Amino acid sequence: MRAVRLHEHGDADVLQVEEIDRPEPADDELLVEVAAAGINPVDTYFRDGSYEPVDVPFTPGVDVAGTVAVTGEAVEDFAEGDRVYGTGIGNGGFQGSYAEYATIPTDRVVHLPDGADLTEAGGAGVAAVTAWRALIDHADLDPAEYCLVHGGSGGVGHAAVQIAAAVSARVITTASEEYHDELADYGAETVLDYGRDDLVDAVREAADGGVDAVLDHRLDDYLQFDADVAATGARVVGIGENSTDPGFTNDGAARSKDVSYQFMSMFNTPDLRVPLRGAAHLMDTGDLSIDVARSYDLEEAAEAQRAVMEDSFLGKLVIEP
Ligand SMILES: NC(=O)c1ccc[n+]([C@@H]2O[C@H](COP(=O)([O-])OP(=O)(O)OC[C@H]3O[C@@H](n4cnc5c(N)ncnc54)[C@H](OP(=O)(O)O)[C@@H]3O)[C@@H](O)[C@H]2O)c1
Repeated sequence: MRAVRLHEHGDADVLQVEEIDRPEPADDELLVEVAAAGINPVDTYFRDGSYEPVDVPFTPGVDVAGTVAVTGEAVEDFAEGDRVYGTGIGNGGFQGSYAEYATIPTDRVVHLPDGADLTEAGGAGVAAVTAWRALIDHADLDPAEYCLVHGGSGGVGHAAVQIAAAVSARVITTASEEYHDELADYGAETVLDYGRDDLVDAVREAADGGVDAVLDHRLDDYLQFDADVAATGARVVGIGENSTDPGFTNDGAARSKDVSYQFMSMFNTPDLRVPLRGAAHLMDTGDLSIDVARSYDLEEAAEAQRAVMEDSFLGKLVIEP
């Protein structure tokens, strides 16, 4: 089969397509014929070595959707031909999905309902599981609460807008102007340009004084901002940052309102199948669309990884081998 591999950490050019043997699934694994593999920022961290070094040769790709080709000997709940999607491979512990076939343990994969599209599902894993875990598990978002999603046009962001809307939260999000209409269609009540000077006031005004929950993917930019726009008792969930030293300029804004901060990694999800099934159901009912902005061949993996870090797009990038 053809697979993208790296033999040393480095920039995107270390990614090369090679002809290798098709892997055999372990007893508790599926071999999946890959229909689509989402491109995530985290794939680039495993590639460049900024996360735990991976054993080489290594195939990146945390997300996968496709059709079961072979089941491991102990597998009972899946059969050849089943449509599935999953996440949590391509992380050093497991080879990834930028390939014609990928193996995935059965505790990281679920069936895909008929109404859900395989290509969209290939881009859904990290984005939807992270958004679900942040808003449903950590922020415990309730109907009619105000939920601020920073960067609603991103992979995680656009899933978060829709998941928050699906639980009838009142969604405020930020994005570049060109994506405002689509984010309103996805259920955002208020969409604001993140570049505007009066963003704190605009968020507060949209939220009748303060937001109840925040999904923050740039803590170095917004840690203080989150406290400033919070309602009393707000929950802020941090998933990322551009530099690793976010800080407060006035922690009193958070303290005086009993604001809770929770930082998280999707990889710590106790059972990935729970949010995967939740997102699958929402894709089936049409309440969650994964917007596939661009699709790449295996040979374009380096370009796809550059684009995910440098380009602006709505939704997700995927590889379709
Ligand atoms: N902790 C976890 O488990 C976890 C899981 C997934 C992702 N992450 C992290 O979360 C971050 C986002 O991931 P992603 O896959 O959603 O990335 P993405 O698809 O590249 O989205 C990034 C978003 O950030 C927006 N943005 C750029 N500048 C901004 C600003 N100044 N203020 C607000 N938004 C801004 C972009 O909007 P424009 O295009 O309109 O500029 C874009 O929508 C990454 O750092 C990733 O590593 C963490």
